[in-house]
Amino acid sequence: MKNKLIFLFVLSIIGCTTAQKTTKSAITIKNIHPVDSLLALMTTEEKIGQMTLFTSDWESTGPTMRDTYKADIRAGKVGAIFNAHTAAYTRSLQKMAVEETRLGIPLLFGYDVIHGYRTIFPISLGEAASWDLAAIQQAARIGAIEASAAGLHWTFAPMVDIARDPRWGRISEGAGEDTYLGNAVAGARVKGFQGANLTDNNTILACAKHFAAYGAAQAGRDYNTVDISDRTLREIYLPPFKAAIDAGVRTFMTSFNELNGIPATGNKYLLKDILRDEWKFDGMVVTDYTSINEMVEHGNVANEKEAGELALKSGVDMDMQGAVYYKYLKKSLAEGKVTIQEINQAARNVLMMKYELGLFDDPYKYSNVTREKELVFAEAHRKFARRLAQKSIVLLKNKKGILPLPQKSKKKVAVIGPLADSQKDMLGSWSASGHAEDCVTLKKGLQEAGSDLIFSFAKGCNIYDGDQSGFAEAKKMANDADYIILSLGENRGMSGEAASRSNIGLPGHQLELAKMCKKTGKPMIVVLSNGRPLAIPWIAENADAIVETWFLGTEAGHAMADVLLGKYNPSGKLPVTFPRNVGQVPIFYNAKHTGRPFDAKNKYTSKYLDVPNTPLYPFGYGLSYTSFDYGKITTDKRRFTQSDSINISVIIKNTGDYDGTETVQLYIHDLVGSVTRPVKELKGFQQVKIKKGAYKTVTFTLTKEDFMFYDKNMKWTIEPGKFDIYVGTNSSAKDKVTITYF
Ligand code: NOJ
Repeated sequence: MKNKLIFLFVLSIIGCTTAQKTTKSAITIKNIHPVDSLLALMTTEEKIGQMTLFTSDWESTGPTMRDTYKADIRAGKVGAIFNAHTAAYTRSLQKMAVEETRLGIPLLFGYDVIHGYRTIFPISLGEAASWDLAAIQQAARIGAIEASAAGLHWTFAPMVDIARDPRWGRISEGAGEDTYLGNAVAGARVKGFQGANLTDNNTILACAKHFAAYGAAQAGRDYNTVDISDRTLREIYLPPFKAAIDAGVRTFMTSFNELNGIPATGNKYLLKDILRDEWKFDGMVVTDYTSINEMVEHGNVANEKEAGELALKSGVDMDMQGAVYYKYLKKSLAEGKVTIQEINQAARNVLMMKYELGLFDDPYKYSNVTREKELVFAEAHRKFARRLAQKSIVLLKNKKGILPLPQKSKKKVAVIGPLADSQKDMLGSWSASGHAEDCVTLKKGLQEAGSDLIFSFAKGCNIYDGDQSGFAEAKKMANDADYIILSLGENRGMSGEAASRSNIGLPGHQLELAKMCKKTGKPMIVVLSNGRPLAIPWIAENADAIVETWFLGTEAGHAMADVLLGKYNPSGKLPVTFPRNVGQVPIFYNAKHTGRPFDAKNKYTSKYLDVPNTPLYPFGYGLSYTSFDYGKITTDKRRFTQSDSINISVIIKNTGDYDGTETVQLYIHDLVGSVTRPVKELKGFQQVKIKKGAYKTVTFTLTKEDFMFYDKNMKWTIEPGKFDIYVGTNSSAKDKVTITYF
């Protein structure tokens, strides 16, 4: 059917083009793919146009702007536009492409729909803290439903970069530090965006980014150099990209960084040898924003023209915003620096995306004002945003069960801090078409919660300046209250792109504000909003309770109030380690043992003089209002061979006073390998709801694949020997059994 339609489309073009001779012979070839028929009609300029992506003038997501995109659309010199959305606007641009260009090839509209389009969900790191894959997938689904109704075809998400350095601001955009969790989340997000069938009008192309190892930027400084071993690349940074492919992702974005001396955008090893040859990816590859041009600054090419040649030869199909293909590729072809086959292949990869979306059947199918009105910011989407926001909250401390607050009492609660009533900060970074005025703040959430508690509110100070003029009011209010809730953290611009920090404590005067409140002697609950792990040793020591909320999106305040008042029993777990101070960074749970592992009594072991080796909060950590007791770990066998699977079980009992959800985590440690292995590696997790007083048996099934790694010859293999298996509530789990592979 589809083939027939595009065939007719191609035929209809022939009637009104000047390229009649070439086209006729092209389309008479039997069994030719319709996209190839179309390709045969195209001039070199038109092909290069398809390989070009420009931003509209609606938004800026990078350093340079062009203002000629409409003229370029009309001239057939641009095949895709980003930062243009809404059904009406995309329709008007599409009309230019379809009606005013020689071949009428529809545009592809992309946008950074990262954690929602208009209904904003928690930032990606926050979503990952839910460890709830179905919910994460659903959030991406809703993002796609809204975005597609607003005319969009393509999201620049998911970001699947593993991030082990909290200084790096973009840690907020991914699933955290762990590859196993990262793989699972990558798959869930791709499936959510792309749905079951890309030709549906509510599914959009996903984009696995940034390929590759962008998160390993030296010193956590954005865009910085990456120099890592092939083993680390393949074991830690690449698997989530492969997981995205396995989930069907159709596009990839190259990263800004160089990798071991070669910028990713001109890196054949990444883009051809691994992506196309090893992984058999047959979708489309786009650059990041002007990253072809930036190779000149990197210093591996002499000028932009050379950069474009290298990018094309390395496997880049589409140039985002840099206009390098647009300006130079035709000349490069004439000079024999690139081949027409290379251009054809890239243009074909782009056209295939349009074809797969069904844009040749109906270029306007996504730009539908009625659907847009009905679906964007739909009530059901908001409801779901609240649920996911609840699930993303991580309870870090709850001394003497101070939380939840007694909502039926008439106690006075002073809510103090710069984030308590900041709507725009709740959006977090990359909030697409999210509106600050849609966001529910903590203040509003508490006011609307219908409790008997008496709330008062004071800002105290700003997030990030030296003004302390609000301290006096805050002090008075704190003295007068039975409880203090402190709403502290970062503003939304302090994480995300180009937002690295060398000091990851609380910015501005927030710590002083907390110290002042502490002096009142009143119970102090700290609610954190932030886009990265924060180093907060004083807060950890002195607060009575700590609630990590990341940036929770549109429904932030409702979800926070739900947790603080006990309407939702927190279940989130950290997807990333919280350091004690920035000097411990990078600190992650799956580190190596070293030859001199920590020994308190021995000076000459691997440690610091001034801070313990352990983190403030480990990966996987998160409390509940109830308590869970883990029974003894049992296995159905202690020795296994290649063809076996092995079952590991543990009984978990809810021993507290609330029904609750626990995320049970399984880690392995390979005791002796031909290359050293991490002290722990996550290999499974399961979420179980257990009623108070009840218990559940959780069983994990492990197979040979779970124990494989790159051996000393970089061969993916399992080596005979012993493995410790840990099952527990976070990555510091101590209970284990030992099994043997022979
Ligand atoms: C640059 C960012 O690195 C990337 O993640 C984003 O998708 C593009 N800009 C487009 O906005």
